[in-house]
Amino acid sequence: MEHHHHFTTLLLHISALLLLLLLLLTNSPLFATAIGINYGQIANNLPSPQQAVPLVKSTGANKLKLYDANPTVLKAFANTGIAFTLGIGNEYLTKLQDPSAAENWIQCNVKPYLPATKITSIAIGNEVLTSNDTSLSGCLLPAMQNIHSALVKFNLDQKITVTTAHSLSVMETSYPPSSGTFRTDLNGVMSPVLDFLAKTCSPFLINAYPFFAFERNPKDVSLDFVLFQPNAGVVDSGNNLRYDNMLFAQIDAVYAALSKLGHKDVPIQISETGWPSKGDDNETGASPENAKKYNGCLLKIVKQKKGTPAMPDYEFDIFVFALFNENLKPGPTSERNYGLFKHDGTPAYDLGFSGSSGGGSSSSHNSTGTPTPPFNFPPENPSGGYMPISSVERYVMRIRISIVLLSGVGWILF
Ligand SMILES: *[C@@H]1O[C@H](CO)[C@@H](O)[C@H](O)[C@H]1NC(C)=O
Ligand SMILES: *[C@@H]1O[C@H](CO)[C@@H](O)[C@H](O)[C@H]1NC(C)=O
Ligand SMILES: *[C@@H]1O[C@H](CO)[C@@H](O)[C@H](O)[C@H]1NC(C)=O
Repeated sequence: MEHHHHFTTLLLHISALLLLLLLLLTNSPLFATAIGINYGQIANNLPSPQQAVPLVKSTGANKLKLYDANPTVLKAFANTGIAFTLGIGNEYLTKLQDPSAAENWIQCNVKPYLPATKITSIAIGNEVLTSNDTSLSGCLLPAMQNIHSALVKFNLDQKITVTTAHSLSVMETSYPPSSGTFRTDLNGVMSPVLDFLAKTCSPFLINAYPFFAFERNPKDVSLDFVLFQPNAGVVDSGNNLRYDNMLFAQIDAVYAALSKLGHKDVPIQISETGWPSKGDDNETGASPENAKKYNGCLLKIVKQKKGTPAMPDYEFDIFVFALFNENLKPGPTSERNYGLFKHDGTPAYDLGFSGSSGGGSSSSHNSTGTPTPPFNFPPENPSGGYMPISSVERYVMRIRISIVLLSGVGWILF
């Protein structure tokens, strides 16, 4: 009898757990998307951070990544629920060799904004290992460790991860994806950084731009393959997996490289990806049409939770580059034209794909000409275009109530 009782309790608990999982997995905007946007500000004509708040909300994005810790931005986004990744520029890496400088940085740039502003990650340096400056490479891990230790000291390490973003040129081999390896000359730095990320449960950040591959080689690289359009794809001879878009191939190449260094345990975050809406004459492919296809399809894929061929369960964690066109960025014209929004806050191109259902390609979409928000959540959303943060909070509350109810039922019955 006693035995039987326990068995039923167990069954109930298991069903409660399954129900809970279902709740979490079904059509939940909160869990279906981890869409972020890079908020770069190398410009002198942008809307104020206060004016940027409704723009960001209109996209449905729930995360922003900065390249600094701009106080005006952090204040403007207080109580919005938007989660921030802060940046620390390469120029600070040498200073951060000093633990007290790291503490001071947290004290000045993080603590004053908590908890009203949600800060969840700090990316130290950008593409340091491919910057040619080997002295800088040597500073990377100690800087990360010192910032992490400072977070521990302030009891913030469970809330804020510490990481660094890499360029795809840290790869020695990336094709076929299964052969992916990091540059062997970087292993001495890369391995301990990966150990650190694993130990602190922090993600590996990679900036991945299929646009660059296409631009460099438009004759050999298929535009459909880089823009997520229907195409026959290519088979990875190493594992027979078929790839029909370049971003997935790039992500899986990084995964293979991580695996080879013993770190399948470190999750991959795409810290930058995007497509320019304008470029120089020789920058083939830079156009509003292609930018719309790339970013539109990317966001659909994130929502559909498709995973990649080598990681079918992969949960996309992506930051689109960028929020605004940035008029003061040096380099080719494309560099100043990655924005989802122009400097005046109007959309750079129409990314609306309302009522999005079905296909992985946006080619069947007929845009209405009305300026719809670039990314939207499932149709259940009452406001149609985007999910106001209050609804997200309501959703969280619904889940919490469900949990309480379920455990309540358990207690009442047994
Ligand atoms: C790195 O060095 C190479 C060769 O010296 C140079 O062409 C390249 O522009 C440098 N890259 C950076 C990011 O400084
Ligand atoms: C385009 O032309 C400029 C100037 O000649 C050159 O520096 C750049 O590398 C070219 N870009 C591509 C993608 O070929
Ligand atoms: C999109 O819809 C508009 C108006 O409904 C129509 O005039 C236009 O031809 C359609 N475009 C495409 C590509 O189907």
